Amino acid sequence: MSEIKKLEIEVVHYQSIEELPKIYTNLLLEARSAASHSYSPYSHFEVGAALLLENGVIVPGSNQENASYPTGLCAERVALFAAATQHPGIKVSAIAITARKAGNEHFEAVTPCGSCRQVMSEYEDLHQQNITVIMEGGNDEVSVLKNASSLLPFRFSHANLK
Ligand code: THU
Repeated sequence: MSEIKKLEIEVVHYQSIEELPKIYTNLLLEARSAASHSYSPYSHFEVGAALLLENGVIVPGSNQENASYPTGLCAERVALFAAATQHPGIKVSAIAITARKAGNEHFEAVTPCGSCRQVMSEYEDLHQQNITVIMEGGNDEVSVLKNASSLLPFRFSHANLK
């Protein structure tokens, strides 16, 4: 007999960046600032990310592209891999993500790509710690998720390799 199972994810939506808890307002502002270091001459899409580590350290990242297109890396993974290298063993509490088109002053809605969702989920498993995901929503609005894994149902993980 078949059965339909429905999955739910909880998203908290804020009308303005100023309504966020202060710590997340700051983190999103750091992500916006990181976007200005994007190297994106091919997509002209500037992405900024900022991680909040459990010890309060903020680690920024921006997307880095390459003439050999697939070798570039998303802002989120630049930040996550930098944190794992520079602050080994320190848990990631939150990530803020933003983007804008080159030459645009305004930031627009962005959600992490599948590969970045996979990587964020792996660090959640590794550290046994939810990563709050703060996503630019456009028009200064913001969406917040309690954890990254909820963005990737039925994901592949280390458990599959056992
Ligand atoms: N990009 C990110 O940095 N993060 C995402 O989650 C989505 C996409 C970058 C990759 C590429 O440099 C550009 O945006 C266009 O895809």
